[in-house]
Amino acid sequence: MPTSRSSESTSSASHRSTTHSTSSSASRDEVLDMLKKDHRNVKKAYKEFTKLDPLEDTERCDAIVRQVLADLQVHTTLEEEFLYPAAREAEPKLIDEAEVEHESAKALIEQLDQMEVGDEKFSARFTVLCEYVEHHIKEEEKELFPKLEKLRLDWATLSEQMLARREQLEPPPDAMEDGAPDGGGTRKGSSSQRPA
Ligand SMILES: [Fe+2]
Ligand SMILES: [Fe+2]
Repeated sequence: MPTSRSSESTSSASHRSTTHSTSSSASRDEVLDMLKKDHRNVKKAYKEFTKLDPLEDTERCDAIVRQVLADLQVHTTLEEEFLYPAAREAEPKLIDEAEVEHESAKALIEQLDQMEVGDEKFSARFTVLCEYVEHHIKEEEKELFPKLEKLRLDWATLSEQMLARREQLEPPPDAMEDGAPDGGGTRKGSSSQRPA
């Protein structure tokens, strides 16, 4: 009977869509939680840096800066390669702004990558980078992410691709230098992690 077939297929489609949306929202949370965790790590590292004297705690300051630079390079790459392109159609203005902010942050990252802790304006440059990134994080978490949460993106694929890319970009723990402080590696030469 056409009526019963149609009601059967509607019910099965709605079941599939519920299942799909549950797994999709789990993937969406996975993606956004991963990015928010990166944000928290940068803010935490910067907070520690502000309490140190780069001339006295040179080694620790250097380790913090190298870690933040490496983490930011991974984070910005993941957003630029996957999240931003997926969201561009729905939020072109916010994505344009985010990309321009990344460009400015990356210019400072490149400069710091070539500098030593004792260099003139090293500390100032790192402070400006972190304050800039904190502003960018606020915009992402208060404006962009809440909008993205409502979009029907292919979150499962995004999550899969971003996790795989992250593994590619992050060196395995045994590739870190010996004696890395607090489980954080001093990933020098992090420029090799930049996307081509
Ligand atoms: Fe970003
Ligand atoms: Fe971000």
